Amino acid sequence: MTDRPIKLMCVFGTRPEAIKVAPIILAAQSRSDIKVIACSTGQHREMLDQVTEHFGIRPDLELKLMQPGQTLTGLTARCLTSLGDAIDLHQPDCILGQGDTTSAMCSGMVAFYHRLPFIHVEAGLRTTDINSPFPEEFNRRVCSLVSGLHCAPTQTAADNLLREGYSEDDVTVTGNTVIDALRWTVQKERAEPHRWIEKHSKIAGKRMVLITAHRRENHGDGIRSLCSAIRQLAEKFPQVQFVYPVHLNPNIQQPVQEILADLSNVHLIAPAEYPEFVWLMDQATLILSDSGGVQEEAPSLGKPVLVTRESTERPEAVAAGATKLIGTDCNRVVQEVSRLLVDKAAYAAMQVDTNPYGGGKTSARILDLIAERFAVQSATRANV
Ligand code: UD1
Ligand code: UDP
Repeated sequence: MTDRPIKLMCVFGTRPEAIKVAPIILAAQSRSDIKVIACSTGQHREMLDQVTEHFGIRPDLELKLMQPGQTLTGLTARCLTSLGDAIDLHQPDCILGQGDTTSAMCSGMVAFYHRLPFIHVEAGLRTTDINSPFPEEFNRRVCSLVSGLHCAPTQTAADNLLREGYSEDDVTVTGNTVIDALRWTVQKERAEPHRWIEKHSKIAGKRMVLITAHRRENHGDGIRSLCSAIRQLAEKFPQVQFVYPVHLNPNIQQPVQEILADLSNVHLIAPAEYPEFVWLMDQATLILSDSGGVQEEAPSLGKPVLVTRESTERPEAVAAGATKLIGTDCNRVVQEVSRLLVDKAAYAAMQVDTNPYGGGKTSARILDLIAERFAVQSATRANV
């Protein structure tokens, strides 16, 4: 035991990281052995503020890094420099990063350069193709290289790490904190759904396909092909509503608005606040998405997800039958969505009753691991 709490810097920068780190920050508030320094890189701006507001998290540090149309190299350079300065200023004992974004990768790299222990949350996801998802598969491998504690969401993810030679002493299956966030949120939104029912009165009582898309490897031809498919589907099923919260990335905004803006049963809306999006998932008939987080959340709500990607690092949901990889080919997307809209047996087969990503107690488990492991090391640090 140390004579003071462990100073744990929790880094997050994008919407999904904030959703998945929030339960850890909130759980730490009721502990005396860990003091969290919440560090927002601000890789996202509007989409991040939505999440921190929902969970009531006030970052101790806001690096405000987002620039419109930012490049990977520019963002990475600014993120490394700013996080390095933040560590010098706040002197944490260890750094926690989540997932596979640029912010996560940079948090791992600065921890390494400062010789601080790095805790990687959502560790061990792999597609085995370094170009897909791009650049996330690279980012998550860098995080693994520098991690002293790999919090793997599933046994499959842990096995990936063990196969790559990481020590089993450093790899623990914890579940995924996204389920902690989802459980907390879904309970609240089911109890008080009025504001969303009012806001989305046009879809009330109707069948609905919920759509998200943002992956870089789908920019260009992929997103255009997906939009053409949505257009065909909206014309083929005029009674079905297509609700699409459009990611703020200009590479997504432009083709989506160009191809889909004029259809009365396609609702292009701003990125939804997390509780609103959870409510929309709960209302949806099915979900069409390339999102990582959505693949993990939807099985808890019994909603089938057609994944518009060529590969996934979340094979557990595919194996459970809850998600299906379909790519972005226009004809294939039309065919797969149509099938689920008309074939009751095919639809029912994708409604699973278990979620492979955890039971909602992951954050507490991760904090216990950190307390056990890093308490005695809090005096060991070096500046670089
Ligand atoms: C990032 C992550 C990706 C994650 C996704 C979640 C990287 C390299 N990519 O992708 O892993 O799955 O977030 O959504 O880390 N923008 C805004 N406001 C916002 C957010 C984004 O205007 O609140 C616009 C900006 O023009 C920004 C652009 O979107 O430059 C791209 O943002 P960026 O974080 O670089 O990439 P994403 O595609 O969002
Ligand atoms: N999400 C949200 N609003 C939206 C779309 C998604 O709050 O309009 C949530 C979703 O529930 C999930 C997370 O954002 O928890 C996924 O983020 P995203 O798809 O941007 O990133 P990924 O998970 O693919 O990295």
